Amino acid sequence: MPGTNPSEQAKILVTRRMPVNVEARVARDYQATLNADDRLYSSAEIVDAAQGHDGIFCCSTETFSADVISALPESVKILATLSVGYEHIDIPAAQKRGLKVTNTPDVLTDATADVAILCLLAAARRGAEGDRLVRADQWHGWYTTMMLGTHMSGKRLGVFGMGRIGRAVAQRGRGFGMQIHYHNRSRLSDELEQGATFHETPESLLAVSDFFSINAPSSPETQKFLNAERIALLPDGAVVANTARGNMVDDDALIAALQSGKLAGAGLDVFDGEPNIHPGYRSLDNVFLLPHLGSATHETRDAMGYCCLDNLDAFFSGKACPTPLT
Ligand code: DGY
Repeated sequence: MPGTNPSEQAKILVTRRMPVNVEARVARDYQATLNADDRLYSSAEIVDAAQGHDGIFCCSTETFSADVISALPESVKILATLSVGYEHIDIPAAQKRGLKVTNTPDVLTDATADVAILCLLAAARRGAEGDRLVRADQWHGWYTTMMLGTHMSGKRLGVFGMGRIGRAVAQRGRGFGMQIHYHNRSRLSDELEQGATFHETPESLLAVSDFFSINAPSSPETQKFLNAERIALLPDGAVVANTARGNMVDDDALIAALQSGKLAGAGLDVFDGEPNIHPGYRSLDNVFLLPHLGSATHETRDAMGYCCLDNLDAFFSGKACPTPLT
């Protein structure tokens, strides 16, 4: 386990179970309050549990609204979230209160990009559908038109949000021989773009995306971004993947497009209101569903935990946090 914490007196509330090595390090280096049974705390319970603590080590499953942040005890000076996404934290409210907030960029880029490709490929090649067929003992032999899917090589991959994860998805797409198109708030340098075609508007990107991967951060502007009007812009038979946040997709519109055949398939790792997903997805054969596994590898989850602990270590040693949001 890397690192030791010079401030062993600091009290840290850990809101969820963490990977074993991460829990061992936080317990070694801090007075840590762990959540042994991993029960999801309500906001009121977090405020209550935070009494007497100097910092909180949380996940994206806990919401720190302005109200929660203002109700936290004065002793809490840092919130380290084990996530790259931070839509669950009201950053302006944290700034106003002088609360340090840190997240875990970079360390989950490859794992999440892998899952974006898994979603595209499984949806395009009918992976889950084939698995279900074999398990149900419904496979009666090979034939030339059996379960034909959509080829990825040579197709246009549209990446919506060309940050670290979007660029890693693009890199993988190149490996599949795909032509890369993207939309981002600003155009990337030639070095980062690596020959990808920039689109000024998401609408222009959608129109050329045989495969469309959502990799932008969730924000008030991107709520229900992929709605019926935008889905209509996609080429017929397109395949969509979402590994960012579920609230960026209008579920009714996506389900309608999958039912009508407008879209060949979709691969979804994140859902609005997860784990309570829209029931319409469950009965569709052309959607590949994952339970928010983007960063779920042993290596990545350890690295995310260590990143949080590196931030706590730096903070309690009076040094600059490596990955601050405030
Ligand atoms: C992230 O890091 O944002 C993952 O989605 C886990 O919350």
